[in-house]
Amino acid sequence: MTASILDGNALSAHLRTELAERAAALAAQGVHPCLAVILVGEDPASAVYVRNKVAGCEKVGMRSIKDVYAPDVNPAVVFARIAELNADPAVHGILVQLPLPKHFDSEAVLEAIAPEKDVDGFHAQNVGALMQGNPRFIPCTPYGVMKMLEAGHVPLKGAEAVIVGRSNIVGKPMAMLLLAQSCTVTVCHSQSRDLAFHTRRADILVAAVGRAKMITGDMIKPGATVIDVGINRQLSGPNAGKLCGDVDFESAKTVAGLITPVPGGVGPMTITMLLTNTIEAAERTLI
Ligand code: GUN
Repeated sequence: MTASILDGNALSAHLRTELAERAAALAAQGVHPCLAVILVGEDPASAVYVRNKVAGCEKVGMRSIKDVYAPDVNPAVVFARIAELNADPAVHGILVQLPLPKHFDSEAVLEAIAPEKDVDGFHAQNVGALMQGNPRFIPCTPYGVMKMLEAGHVPLKGAEAVIVGRSNIVGKPMAMLLLAQSCTVTVCHSQSRDLAFHTRRADILVAAVGRAKMITGDMIKPGATVIDVGINRQLSGPNAGKLCGDVDFESAKTVAGLITPVPGGVGPMTITMLLTNTIEAAERTLI
């Protein structure tokens, strides 16, 4: 068997057409959806993500603001900027790219963002709302995964869903979203005993650990849906320098029923859902 591909580029292109229409409808009413992105430091991966987020805004006709600070900036400067953006009615979404340098209290930074502009969905109020099944903003990567499962017509009710990774950004919110759709959810992590025992039970397997190719074909149930959230740069071998996921695509595709590639899978969906959350924040200002 060779798995069918869940194409994040194609789904993103379709969803972004709809977003462009919503952005135009807002503009016609005098509201120009605007995302403010703050980047601290010089992490090359973060710089690429931020660039793609800003470019994504442009392509659907949204405004964006990009503030870049030196890695040794005084956190007070960033807090002051967040307060300014919170108070600016022309800004609908605010995002601080993570990770922040070590001298920052990341949690305090996320809490400083006005919850109604927290398009990442990382503010404690928004995390709580998601946990209670009443989300205001769904974190972008898990939101994108849910859209891909929907597009792939993957049955969720009663399905065994196994998530590898327990981060605040992906693993934990992913668990909440799948649980809300009546999956039976298992969350595995670095201390899990016999990881393969769990992954082989999964009808839906979400890999979000940040370790290149750690999920291999023998760890996958035949016919399973495999969602690869990892974006890793290969350090050695014939493909050194190229991107790969947390799933060993070559062996996994011979076992899985549906699989997301890297690149071109979850990655573009994350940005699409960020744009969706920002448009939604802008639309809410009209209610
Ligand atoms: N770093 C890695 N993923 C994300 C994300 O979704 N949002 C932010 N703000 N930072 C990240």
